[in-house]
Formats: sequence, C-alpha cells, structure tokens
Amino acid sequence: MKYFIVTYGCQMNVHESEKIAGILENLGYSEAEKREDADIIVFNTCAIREGAEDRVFGNVGNLKKMKKRNRDLIIAVCGCMTQKENTAKHLMQTFPFVDIVLGTFNLSRLGEFVQKVRMGRQMEILSEGDIDESLPYKRTSGENAWVNIMQGCNNFCTYCIVPYVRGREKSRSQENILNEIKSIIAENKYKKITLLGQNVNSYGNDLSDGSNFASLLKAICELNGDFKLSFMTSHPKDLTDEVIDVIANEEKIEKYIHLPAQSGNDRILKLMNRKYTREKYLSIINKIRAKIPTCRITSDFIVGFPSETEEEFEDTYSLVKEVRFDSIFAFMYSPREGTVASKMEEQISNDVKHNRVNRLLALEKQIQQEDNKR
Ligand code: 5AD
Ligand code: SF4
Repeated sequence: MKYFIVTYGCQMNVHESEKIAGILENLGYSEAEKREDADIIVFNTCAIREGAEDRVFGNVGNLKKMKKRNRDLIIAVCGCMTQKENTAKHLMQTFPFVDIVLGTFNLSRLGEFVQKVRMGRQMEILSEGDIDESLPYKRTSGENAWVNIMQGCNNFCTYCIVPYVRGREKSRSQENILNEIKSIIAENKYKKITLLGQNVNSYGNDLSDGSNFASLLKAICELNGDFKLSFMTSHPKDLTDEVIDVIANEEKIEKYIHLPAQSGNDRILKLMNRKYTREKYLSIINKIRAKIPTCRITSDFIVGFPSETEEEFEDTYSLVKEVRFDSIFAFMYSPREGTVASKMEEQISNDVKHNRVNRLLALEKQIQQEDNKR
C-alpha cells in the first residue's frame, strides 16, 4: 500500500506533512513516487490566501477520474482550509468522492479514520480536539529538522485567517522540545534545526515555568552537538533585545531573521492591528544591524490592504528601499471570510494590487542585483 502527500503553504504544513507520513508509515504504507501509484492521496491545505484555496479545489477535482478507475483509492483533505466550517462543507458537497476531511487539531486521528474508511464507514467533518505530542515524524527535509515549539496565534492581525484555523497560542513545554532536539542530535543526520511557530517570540507567554524564547534558545544551544539553529516567524512587536543578544552571542544560531513588516505606513499598520509603527520597525532593524552586522533580514509585505492609497503604498516602497532586505515576499491582499479586514469598506481593485505588487518586486530585484554586484 502506498501514500502520496500534496503539501500547500508554509513550513508548518511541510512539517505537518512529515507527521502525516509518519502516521501512514505506522499503518504499513510506503511512499509512492507519483500520485497515480498511490492507494491514499492526502492534501495538506493552506487557507492564507484565496489563490491557495483555489489550487486545492482544482487539484482535488482532478482526482475524480482516478477515483472512478480505482474505487479503493482513499482521498483525504486536511490542514487549514478544512478548519473553516463553510469551506469544509463546500469541499464535501463539491467532491463527494473525498473520503476524509480532517481539521488541523485532529491530525492525530488520521490513522483511525483511514482504518474506518477501509472498513467502508462514512466520514464526518472534525474540527475540534487536542494536538497529540506522541505522533511519529518521518523527517523529509534533508539536512534540516523542523521542530514545532508552539501552535496557534493570539495576534489577530485583521487580514489573517491563522488565529481562526490554528486557534490560540499554545507553547510546548521546554522539556518536550529539548527531548525532541536531543533525539534529533542523537540521530546524527541533521546539520540544521529550525524552530517553528506563527510567532516564536511570544513562546512561553502561556507557560507558568518562566521560560521565554530567549531562554529556550539558550537552553538548546547548551546541548552538545554539531548543529546550526534557526527559527521562524518573528513578530516585530515581540522581538526583544534579549533575543537579539542571544542571536548575536550564540555561535550555533544562524544569523538570519525573517521579520514581516507587512506595510511601511502607520495608518495601514494600525488598521492591520500590527501594534508597531514604521519608526519602531526601523529601530529594530537598526538594533539588529548594530549588534549582528552580518545578519540576513527578510520580510513579508501585503499590498492593496483595504483603503490603502497610492501615497501609503509608497511608504511601503520607501521602507523596502531604505532597509534593503536580503529578500522579501510581497502579497496582494486577499480577503479572508470571517476576518475584520474582509468587512472593511474600500476594498482595492485587482488591477491596482497587481500594479503595486509588481512595482515592489521590481524594486526588490533591482536591490538584489545591486547587492550581488557589490
Ligand atoms: N492576504 C494576503 N497576504 C496575507 N498574508 C497573511 N494573510 C494574508 C491575506 N489575507 C501574508 C502575510 C504573512 C504571510 C505568511 O502571508 O504577509 O506574513
Ligand atoms: Fe497571522 Fe498576524 Fe498571527 Fe502572523 S501574527 S499568524 S499574520 S495573525
């Protein structure tokens, strides 16, 4: 029996697909080279922008013929998209041949559900539950081992669906994280360990043992072993001086920070509920560069947020010009059902969004070419 996993979205999902692979291998499945060879196909989906969801609908739809040819083929859809009630229902109605729809909190029950489908039981949609710490991973990212340090997000940036599909922040205990990392080191296969969380800098806020992200980083660096440590993603409002100092001082920590700015304009940042200003963001960048001159810094930007004027977009443009990031991701704002921004008036037209995103990416290219020459 063979499985094939199709992964969309962020590193969190890439890592969760390693969990899916672990669960399926425990059931006796092995990995198929292509989806045509598979007995079970799992889509691990992303809901961050409409485009990501459209791709899933297209690709799941394409399996109808395969399912007709092979009635025993199991098709499962999980991940952030299925955590949205309306989308999950819409998926089941549009594609009645999908066997399993499982939300992000119920991944641990995939094995049980596969067994049920094999016995001919029909599936319902599940969207509540607890994350299981004991699940096996099949690590698939070469020399890099992902380690999840927390789930969810409390920030409710007004454009973002993550708090709705991943729930509130929940940090794993330092002990569990250290134990996982010790066993990764003992395997002797990985040169790099990357810590994952939607907002790693608020690690520990919900724990009562006094640990925070800086102390976690230090504790990991004290472990014996030859590895580089990296992490993502950092929210500018939570990146403390203490964390910057730890990155500067610890040899094992990679000198790299992904620090999404989202916009360079204070009115838009406020509407986004980001809780920092352009000036504050720039002061953090200056601090990082003063303490860690070799640090690579990358960022995310959203253009065409509701009511963003040309001048306000130009503030984003000038921020990118001023900071000269090592690279940026620029996204056109995509309204997500249920978020505050999706209900705002003055949504921006697609033409304007395209124009702004292209200008920002052209600037990034120009900066990179100049830096490469240098
Ligand atoms: N529309 C466009 N981009 C978004 N992002 C998050 N939500 C949206 C949205 N609704 C972007 C942000 C975030 C990155 C992972 O995706 O820039 O940092
Ligand atoms: Fe979304 Fe904001 Fe949380 Fe990042 S910090 S996951 S953008 S709500």
